[in-house]
Amino acid sequence: MTKLTVLYGTETGNSELLAMDICKAGENSGLECEHYGMEVIEISEFCDIENLLIVCSTWGDGEQPDNAIELFEQVEGLNEGAIQSMKFSVLALGDTAFDLFCEAGKEWDRVLEEKGANRIHDRVDCDVDYEDDAEEWIENVISIFG
Ligand SMILES: Cc1cc2nc3c(=O)[nH]c(=O)nc-3n(C[C@H](O)[C@H](O)[C@H](O)COP(=O)(O)O)c2cc1C
Repeated sequence: MTKLTVLYGTETGNSELLAMDICKAGENSGLECEHYGMEVIEISEFCDIENLLIVCSTWGDGEQPDNAIELFEQVEGLNEGAIQSMKFSVLALGDTAFDLFCEAGKEWDRVLEEKGANRIHDRVDCDVDYEDDAEEWIENVISIFG
């Protein structure tokens, strides 16, 4: 059974709710799904993930949410090519009223590629009314893994 790992970076819970939606959709398609806040994942566990979906909001002035900061820094510190067997896609939450729209999700998308992971679907950047865009991304990524 294909295993899907969903990691969320959040301040106020939107990304966590979406991570739960992703897992429900994945399980309905016969995938084994698990979701975690980014703060609970050790870098060694991260490197072993085969199928990764990231949902991450942006905070402050284009910054990572608090629960994502440490893992993001550790991933940035990996050697190039360290996660070549990983497949991934990123769903970025933000607000177009900010200059650095969805910057944290864009950084995840960039760093994962830089470290050798394989993007299986383009990143989607969501504005405050994220439901429709998120739903479409979820359907697409689940159909790729399912
Ligand atoms: C104080 C504050 C700062 C924010 N900064 C940004 C930002 O720099 N760029 C952006 O695209 N969105 C920004 N946002 C919007 C959030 O990313 C957006 O509301 C998101 O849906 C929150 O998701 P979460 O509940 O998973 O944290 C900010 C929101 C707040 C309240």
